[in-house]
Amino acid sequence: MNFLVFLSFSVLISITLAFLVAHYVKTKHKNKKKIPPGQLGLPWIGETIDFYRAQRNNKLHEEFVQPRIQKYGHTFKTRLMGSNTVVVNGAEANKFFMSNEFKLVISSWPSSSVQLMGEHSIMEKQGEAHRCLRGIVATSLNSSGLEALVPKICKTIEVHLKKYWDSGEETISLFSTAKVLTFTIVLECLFGIEVENGMLESFEKVLEGVFATPVNFPGSKFSKAKKARKEIENMLVDVVRKKRNEMENKQGIGEEEEEEEGILLSKLVAALIRGEINELEVVDNVVLLVFAAHDTTSFAIAMVFRMLADHPNCYSKLLEEHNEIMSSKRDDENLIYEDTKKMMYTWQVTRESMRIFPPIFGSFRKAIDDIEYDGFTIPRGWKPIQPYVYVPFGGGPRLCAGYQLAKLNILIFVHYVVTQYDWSLVIPDEPIISEPLPFPSKGMPIKISPKLK
Ligand code: HEM
Repeated sequence: MNFLVFLSFSVLISITLAFLVAHYVKTKHKNKKKIPPGQLGLPWIGETIDFYRAQRNNKLHEEFVQPRIQKYGHTFKTRLMGSNTVVVNGAEANKFFMSNEFKLVISSWPSSSVQLMGEHSIMEKQGEAHRCLRGIVATSLNSSGLEALVPKICKTIEVHLKKYWDSGEETISLFSTAKVLTFTIVLECLFGIEVENGMLESFEKVLEGVFATPVNFPGSKFSKAKKARKEIENMLVDVVRKKRNEMENKQGIGEEEEEEEGILLSKLVAALIRGEINELEVVDNVVLLVFAAHDTTSFAIAMVFRMLADHPNCYSKLLEEHNEIMSSKRDDENLIYEDTKKMMYTWQVTRESMRIFPPIFGSFRKAIDDIEYDGFTIPRGWKPIQPYVYVPFGGGPRLCAGYQLAKLNILIFVHYVVTQYDWSLVIPDEPIISEPLPFPSKGMPIKISPKLK
């Protein structure tokens, strides 16, 4: 009997031990993730200071990324602003992360950006909600929407040139004036909202806080930005309600719900009336689109002119393209959408200038699962960053929604300027600073004069 008890006890102990060993081996294996090499540095701060220093000098690749690639390889870890981060590099990395949006990664912007752009904006939407909103935005940016936008953009550029380029001043700031132009094109041409005094200043105040530390004490960049955001929100709520009333009244008298071609506000309000989105979603997305377009397009414009100044042979070739388009038109005849398709060389110059001076340095993403990549594990919750050097408009489901509008804005503006004005850079090697969005440190002054006919 005693022997039987002893035997059963031994068998039980052996099974338990075997189970524990198996569990230990399995857990050990599971926990033995191969985290990418690199330095996490001090708690919270990590390598943030080095990162910002390199970024401010617009030398993120040369001073931060490249030395670490040499030391650790193409995939390395770091810690930025409290987040464990993995920097991934190269075309494969772009392909992998862009095609795994919503599956392995989701966008994860800094808290200040989310608070200022709005929690309901497209950049905060995931999966189906994102797809639905993108569908609405895309209706104004498809080819018939774009076709309708071209005459409006031409008109806006003509008015802009008269005001800033024909003002009698010999020198103007190309970057600052391009910002006014981009703002007007997005607000008036895309949304159909008239720009009023003080609006641009309020939007710019918000933009100044988008990457600031989210501390809301009086006088801080962030609190000023929050205040400006509230003013913009109030203004936009009035605009949206007015539009809704107009559209509902038209429906009430038996007319088709009016959705003007290319006017994004009417598409968003139509979706609001249909109950697909709510009022806050309309407001947050107007704000987001203005910001998404603002510094990016203006910086791209400025850098095209920098490229042309640096490469006179490219400028001559580009000029030929525009003179040829002009020669096929009467003096009073405006550009049409088809003309912009002929500006292929100008677009190549633009793409090359965005490769050298990318308007957006990279993406903000968060791993929603452990990710096996390049022989390493990127643990859930860590942030993969991929520099957007060769993909200025991103890719995958979050490919820039305004890519075609940015293209029209740049091409048409370049057309008007190079065919009507002589210009030269005042500071040919003006430093570019990033905070974290890049800008020419002196606003890119240029000397201008009307072309002699
Ligand atoms: C040269 C100008 C521009 C550049 C370089 C640019 C670049 C980008 C990039 C890289 C992304 C992807 C961000 C990410 O992966 O998280 C993006 C997204 C976006 N862009 Fe642009 N952009 C430009 C102009 C515009 C314009 C003019 C608009 C609209 C008026 C616009 C609207 C958007 C929107 C709505 C998104 C978010 C898309 C989404 O999350 O589905 N962008 N842009």
